[in-house]
Amino acid sequence: MSNNLLQGKRGIITGALDENSIAWKVAEKAVEQGAKIVLTNAPIALRMGKINELAAKTNSKVIPADATNVEEINKMLVESQEFLGGKIDFMLHSIAQSPNIRKNIGYPELNYDYYDKTLDISALSLHKMLAAAYKLDALSEGASVVALSYMAAQRTFSFYTDMADAKALLESIVRSFGYHYGKYRKVRVNSISQSPTKTTAGSGIKGFETFFDFAALNAPLGNADAASCADYCITMFSDLTKMVTMQNLMHDGGYSNTGASADLMEKFGE
Ligand SMILES: NC(=O)c1ccc[n+]([C@@H]2O[C@H](COP(=O)([O-])OP(=O)(O)OC[C@H]3O[C@@H](n4cnc5c(N)ncnc54)[C@H](O)[C@@H]3O)[C@@H](O)[C@H]2O)c1
Repeated sequence: MSNNLLQGKRGIITGALDENSIAWKVAEKAVEQGAKIVLTNAPIALRMGKINELAAKTNSKVIPADATNVEEINKMLVESQEFLGGKIDFMLHSIAQSPNIRKNIGYPELNYDYYDKTLDISALSLHKMLAAAYKLDALSEGASVVALSYMAAQRTFSFYTDMADAKALLESIVRSFGYHYGKYRKVRVNSISQSPTKTTAGSGIKGFETFFDFAALNAPLGNADAASCADYCITMFSDLTKMVTMQNLMHDGGYSNTGASADLMEKFGE
């Protein structure tokens, strides 16, 4: 169903790898709501994933950019404006990767080269995108930028290792750049802190399936899925949330404010 919430808006969606990606759902819904979009991802992901399928479905263009590479980001922003026909009204940062998690290295043993990569890909990339856009003046007045985060930024989840630090940094960049871009062009910058979701990035975490079930049992509404996360992103890109900025918005079915649910207690009593 469309309410044309994004009619006439131009957007950039990062991180759509396959149909399970949260960004995939955001792209589909943004176009459904009247937006014209560019899809971007790391060159290697373009070869591995199915992004061209999504581009055909959404009449969008794929512009490759490694989100850690400032030159590639600049080029992507310039080409996006050319394709979309003007400044950008919304941008989704949906990028994360941890070589430490991929190689199953625990928090006390972190490999620091990998740690640097985790922070660069998963957090500094947001700063790089915003800084490039700021210098190029690529975002329209009142544009909206959303980054996806996880509650491990505030509370410890043993399995989330260095990604927890990356999310804490990401949320800090949301606040700091939100201030500066707000003053400069009334651009809003927020993060949405999403429930565990079955995607390539999510499922790469050891014990993910068990934790997914645990979280679903503890949250009164259950886990929020990728489609509902996309709906939340759409509201944040729309003009209905024009005064929301520098926030980390929980989108987790109530998990973050629940100590222990009756369902969980019952399960442990079995
Ligand atoms: N899945 C979950 O449980 C969950 C929960 C909360 C938050 N999130 C966040 O949602 C976001 C999207 O993840 P997802 O779950 O949809 O998984 P996903 O694997 O589908 O998406 C991650 C994306 O990051 C891209 N990426 C990695 N390195 C990159 C680079 N150098 N340059 C550009 N792109 C790069 C990947 O190609 C991929 O498209 C991430 O920030 C993730 O941390 C996920």
